[in-house]
Amino acid sequence: MPERQLAAITGGSSGIGASFARKLAQRGYDLLLIARREDRMRSLARELADAHHVIVDTMAADLSLDADIDRVADRLGSAANLGLLVNNAGFGSHGFFFETGVAGQDKMHRLHVLATMRLSHAALSNLVARGAGGVINVASVAGFGQAPSNVSYCATKAWMISFTEGLSIELMVKGSPVKVQALCPGFTLSEFHDVLGMDRSAIPSSLWMPADFVVEDSLRALDKGQVVCVPGWRYKLIVRGMKMIPRSIAAAMTRRFRKPKAAQATSR
Ligand SMILES: NC(=O)c1ccc[n+]([C@@H]2O[C@H](COP(=O)([O-])OP(=O)(O)OC[C@H]3O[C@@H](n4cnc5c(N)ncnc54)[C@H](OP(=O)(O)O)[C@@H]3O)[C@@H](O)[C@H]2O)c1
Repeated sequence: MPERQLAAITGGSSGIGASFARKLAQRGYDLLLIARREDRMRSLARELADAHHVIVDTMAADLSLDADIDRVADRLGSAANLGLLVNNAGFGSHGFFFETGVAGQDKMHRLHVLATMRLSHAALSNLVARGAGGVINVASVAGFGQAPSNVSYCATKAWMISFTEGLSIELMVKGSPVKVQALCPGFTLSEFHDVLGMDRSAIPSSLWMPADFVVEDSLRALDKGQVVCVPGWRYKLIVRGMKMIPRSIAAAMTRRFRKPKAAQATSR
């Protein structure tokens, strides 16, 4: 019997990451869940191992810390059955950049940019040598623009999209079958907005998507080799509009309509 493929999911303790874990276990992947809350990952691991007869391992790691990134990178680089890495761990912020503590901004850049870069490097070195598999980087529709109170979030998510597009070009030039994807969701029901302390009712209900919908769209798109995946027709239209409007006009519209909010750059 062929060895089962391993899917490693950062931020596998809740939200979109937990949904990736469920969908990939259904597809027959063994799992490696990586996040800080080990109790949450262990209970999800038990649920999925029982339901799908797959092996689910957990690694407690704070991916804003170099030593923890090193540990996870070593594991990804040496896993002989690695099939997929989902760089999903992340958190949001609000508050003007220069009015929030720099520690939260620093942590966001380490998690969204440095951890994604280091873990992608470890995974791709392994996958490209074996000629199979993929990497999904969970970015955001926020990565297609800029907004006050969200500067580091938009910038780090834009980096994730650009980084993934660059990787896809290199893989194409190399003739590698390994796939990469930047997943760019809009508002998705998860713990993300609880961590931020944001009132969900401030956003029209038609703009909220279930995490399972986002993940199903991502996996369908990965099967087709789509490099940038924007789930939901509303967000596809929004992103098309964001790409068409010149940045100077978008900035002028923002100046006209957005009021400043209280400062905060929040992580658990
Ligand atoms: N929800 C949305 O509307 C939305 C929209 C666009 C993009 N996204 C992106 O989707 C991704 C997943 O977010 P979500 O919506 O599923 O929110 P969530 O439910 O809050 O999940 C965030 C995950 O990231 C993990 N995490 C946070 N900081 C970490 C750290 N320092 N080290 C390791 N793991 C860490 C959390 O686990 P622990 O707390 O256990 O460490 C948790 O598993 C994020 O990258 C987010 O930017 C979300």
